[in-house]
Amino acid sequence: MTIRPTSPDTRKPLRIGLLGCGFMGKCHTNAYKKIPYIYPAANVMPRLSLLCDKDERRAQTEAVRYGYERYCTDWKELVADPEVDIVDNCGPDPVHPEPCIAALAAGKHVICEKPMAISVADARRMRDAARAASTKAMCTFNYRFMPAVRLARDLVASGRIGTVYHMRVHYLQMAGHDPSLSPSQAWYSAWPHSGGLQGIGSHAIDQCRFLVGEIRSVSALVRAFNPSRAIPSAGDPTAWADEGTAAVLEFENGALGVLESSVVATGRKNYLAWEINGSRGSLRWDLEHPNSLQVCVVTGENALFGFTEVNVTESFHPYSGAWWPSGHNLGWEHGHIIEKFHFLDAVANQKELSPFQATFEDGYRVAVIIDAMRRSSQTGQRIEIQY
Ligand SMILES: NC(=O)c1ccc[n+]([C@@H]2O[C@H](COP(=O)([O-])OP(=O)(O)OC[C@H]3O[C@@H](n4cnc5c(N)ncnc54)[C@H](O)[C@@H]3O)[C@@H](O)[C@H]2O)c1
Repeated sequence: MTIRPTSPDTRKPLRIGLLGCGFMGKCHTNAYKKIPYIYPAANVMPRLSLLCDKDERRAQTEAVRYGYERYCTDWKELVADPEVDIVDNCGPDPVHPEPCIAALAAGKHVICEKPMAISVADARRMRDAARAASTKAMCTFNYRFMPAVRLARDLVASGRIGTVYHMRVHYLQMAGHDPSLSPSQAWYSAWPHSGGLQGIGSHAIDQCRFLVGEIRSVSALVRAFNPSRAIPSAGDPTAWADEGTAAVLEFENGALGVLESSVVATGRKNYLAWEINGSRGSLRWDLEHPNSLQVCVVTGENALFGFTEVNVTESFHPYSGAWWPSGHNLGWEHGHIIEKFHFLDAVANQKELSPFQATFEDGYRVAVIIDAMRRSSQTGQRIEIQY
């Protein structure tokens, strides 16, 4: 047999324009590079068309490193570019609203990192722009796409653990635990960051809504333990530097929730964890053991009654089949890849985003709940959630 050229690539190209080539720009680009060979059946081929970063040197260097065809420094050029189908906003929190709204108005599909917007008013404008558009818009709540998290959702939704009584969720990091760190050394506090509740608490809130359902009311205390970091930086009054939130939630289905979010939890690197208790069982998961769902179901067999660790890597488990054989674990990175794949598949093959992907409606609702937690902390009142 002679050596032959490969066949022409007939996969549907989707041209990506990505804003912000930092941590998340790298993470999302990593997803686009892996999607075509992990998910051949979807027949999509993301093309890295345009990379935008206000730091020109960075944009130029990273465009070469990742294989983007072109680069620019002004997001207005990105959203207007006819060679971009999907605008992926991996810019800092305050740079989410205007580029996303402009991209939707220009007929692009949009992915926006969380928190979707710092203020409820901006989040509402983004939600309304997405509603008015004929294109798709997703807010990146990537933990929805960890296989064990999706399995838990399916178990709760099918009634397998009965009536849900409780959900307790923690999202803990240690970024600011050392009081001698300056604001710029703690990722959540210096401009353009917007505090720990927006930064990681938003994920915890989304997990509550995703797994148990809508939240009816919240009571919360939101604290900045290191006052120097609590001063809004860069003159922007919407930039906060809160470090710890303790909240009590009432779900619409009657369940109670306890939510804790901290960026001063000494020793905790990126610890998202939750437990759900229902009348016929309980579920427990944490990001340090992402492939394991701890499951307890009432079976009547008292001697073995308790939590069992289920390794969620079988081909019949949610999202796992596209990856490796049974027991070959997935990690944090894979949640992002799986999420971006489902968005591309929805765009290319006309599928719905809801209920498993977070839409701009979900991003808006998380902004409303964060605002309610802040108001509760300021007033000492329990706040009803109104969308
Ligand atoms: N879902 C997750 O797992 C996750 C994790 C970390 C951060 N995030 C979110 O992702 C977003 C980005 O965070 P990051 O950690 O990648 O930040 P980063 O600081 O590492 O990168 C941001 C990039 O955006 C560029 N930038 C800033 N303003 C710009 C502008 N006006 N126009 C063009 N480029 C601009 C910066 O130069 C920088 O390169 C934030 O909203 C953050 O909350 C999400």
